[in-house]
Amino acid sequence: MQAKRIEHLSPYLFAEIDRKIEEKRKAGVDVISLGIGDPVEPTPSHIIKKLCQAVEDPENHRYPSYYGLSELREAIASWYKKRFGVELDPSQEILPLIGSKEGIAHLSVALLDAGAYCLVPDPAYPVYRTGALLSDGIPHPMPLLRENDFLPDLEKIDSQIIKKAKIMFLNYPNNPTGAVASEEFLSECVKLAEKNGITVCYDNPYSELTYDGYIAPSFLEIPGGKEIGVEFHSLSKTYNMAGWRIGWVAGNKKVIDALGRVKTNIDSGIFKAVQYAGIAALTGPQDCVEEMRAIYRRRRDKVISAFASIGIEVTKPKGAIYVWVPTPAGYSSESFATYVLEKAGVVVSPGNAYGSSGEGYIRISLSVKDDRLKEALNRIIELL
Ligand SMILES: Cc1ncc(COP(=O)(O)O)c(C=O)c1O
Repeated sequence: MQAKRIEHLSPYLFAEIDRKIEEKRKAGVDVISLGIGDPVEPTPSHIIKKLCQAVEDPENHRYPSYYGLSELREAIASWYKKRFGVELDPSQEILPLIGSKEGIAHLSVALLDAGAYCLVPDPAYPVYRTGALLSDGIPHPMPLLRENDFLPDLEKIDSQIIKKAKIMFLNYPNNPTGAVASEEFLSECVKLAEKNGITVCYDNPYSELTYDGYIAPSFLEIPGGKEIGVEFHSLSKTYNMAGWRIGWVAGNKKVIDALGRVKTNIDSGIFKAVQYAGIAALTGPQDCVEEMRAIYRRRRDKVISAFASIGIEVTKPKGAIYVWVPTPAGYSSESFATYVLEKAGVVVSPGNAYGSSGEGYIRISLSVKDDRLKEALNRIIELL
């Protein structure tokens, strides 16, 4: 009954985790989830106010314009200029998305012919790989290893596959490892992509959530980046707007045009009231972002010192909202995640769910209230 192309598609990791949580809760367990990266703090009030105002206007109840409001595209262009010094043409180089997830998945539909290779980091946000599979493309893993600071070793990618690759996904600050990429590394990626006709799809939803003085670059500010690549952004994490579904892609015109062609045939854009709220987020006061950075930094440090207290050394992430923790001796990613859920009622994501190179790790998300995080860490530590 099912199409062949979904044969290799595993159930979505977090849908499975949700199912397990539901089961445990029904059985009376007080489950604490450190699984998904879904901000628990509310969306800042000035953004909510803007949404409420915009909802009252019947004009906003109609179909939104396919390519997003020009005011939103202009606000994104101004934000890019101010934040990264990158000039973007709002009419051709920016496309609003119903959350970046759909754009990432649809990009493969727009760029990959059947049998084309797509270079995907391993471990990684699962949608890069599944987008390629749904387009009958072939995802090719680029291992992210601790000894390479969780950057792909470009020299080690099979040269025959590079020649046949159409897309390379990259994501820094990185989910799940928390690693960051230097501008030198990104320049190397630009060179490789230019030489082989590859489109770099740089996923940058955590650019604003960085710590210890580190400021993340945009791929589009790297010389040549805007010519050979696009960059995905999201308001989900920066402004605690995960449920609102708003993000965008910016960069190379031809890629944006191809993705726009796919999307306009499939969806009808972002609810206009949410677009106005998105403008308020980008152009309004930014102290809410500083507050979130302080909150995540505090939680990150708690996780690191909890694991240090039982002799597990964790690399301190400079960005994103996750801690990538090596599993204790004697456990695989899966067996440790299961043990922690069964014995402590705490959900963590097994590292291998992000790709086989994630084996030997679990991912802890910092999007949980401080008291619950403390309780979860105590429960885990008591087990070991
Ligand atoms: C690396 C990465 N890219 C994209 C997304 C999707 O974000 P959005 O809410 O904009 O769809 C996530 C969400 O967790 C993510 O971690």
